[in-house]
Amino acid sequence: MAQETSPSTLHKVRIWDLPTRLFHWLLAAAVTALVVTGNLGGNAMNWHLLLGYGVLALLLFRLLWGAAGGRWSRFASFVPTPSRLLRYLRGQGRADDSAGHSPLGALSVLAMLGVLAAQVGSGLLSDDEIAFSGPLARFVSGDTVAMATAYHAHWGPYLIYGLVALHLAAIVFYSLRGRGLVRAMLTGDKQLSDAVPASRDTWGRRLLAAVLAAAACAIAWWVRQLEATPF
Ligand code: HEM
Repeated sequence: MAQETSPSTLHKVRIWDLPTRLFHWLLAAAVTALVVTGNLGGNAMNWHLLLGYGVLALLLFRLLWGAAGGRWSRFASFVPTPSRLLRYLRGQGRADDSAGHSPLGALSVLAMLGVLAAQVGSGLLSDDEIAFSGPLARFVSGDTVAMATAYHAHWGPYLIYGLVALHLAAIVFYSLRGRGLVRAMLTGDKQLSDAVPASRDTWGRRLLAAVLAAAACAIAWWVRQLEATPF
């Protein structure tokens, strides 16, 4: 007979370190503001560009943190192999499949990061032929700029709306089943029936994250100054 886990046998485990949580909520705020400013147009486009460099810095940071971050934030811990995904879909998931991102959740996270990277990349190559052009547009052919602009304005946003809607629907679904995902993204901790290893979230690790975030900001800043550099 299956044994029920009583609250006293649950283990409180740090899953999302502070840098990952800050990354997540800053990304959510920046993407929301980008959608609003992009739709407003006009002077709001100055903010749209600035926020775009912000998201570039956030994505670069996440790439670095995916290699150096806490155990459950590392890509190696959640990018699923086909066999892991199949096992999970057959209902034979293991403890580490529900500690961080589940194999299915990991696919949606990777899709979200990929689509956001494509949106930032195409923005850097876009030109509205009126007042705003991305800093890399002058380095590529007119055809490439036209393709990037069309993707950035007409295709990319719908992919982002779709993935964000799917993301929120999945969070509501799992929250209704009592998985406490949102609380974990706020506090960092999950109550788990298995005592899986925790993510290290010390001040030393946070200092490392700050250094990597500064490097990511420096790269985004360098890309931004290409706007002004004479060719
Ligand atoms: C534009 C809005 C949003 C974007 C772009 C976004 C993006 C992401 C990304 C990229 C991750 C993976 C985090 C990582 O490993 O680095 C993630 C995870 C997560 N997000 Fe969001 N998010 C958004 C809004 C929200 C909102 C509003 C909530 C809660 C109400 C939320 C709750 C979560 C939770 C709980 C996870 C962890 C899921 C898991 O346990 O696998 N997100 N989100």
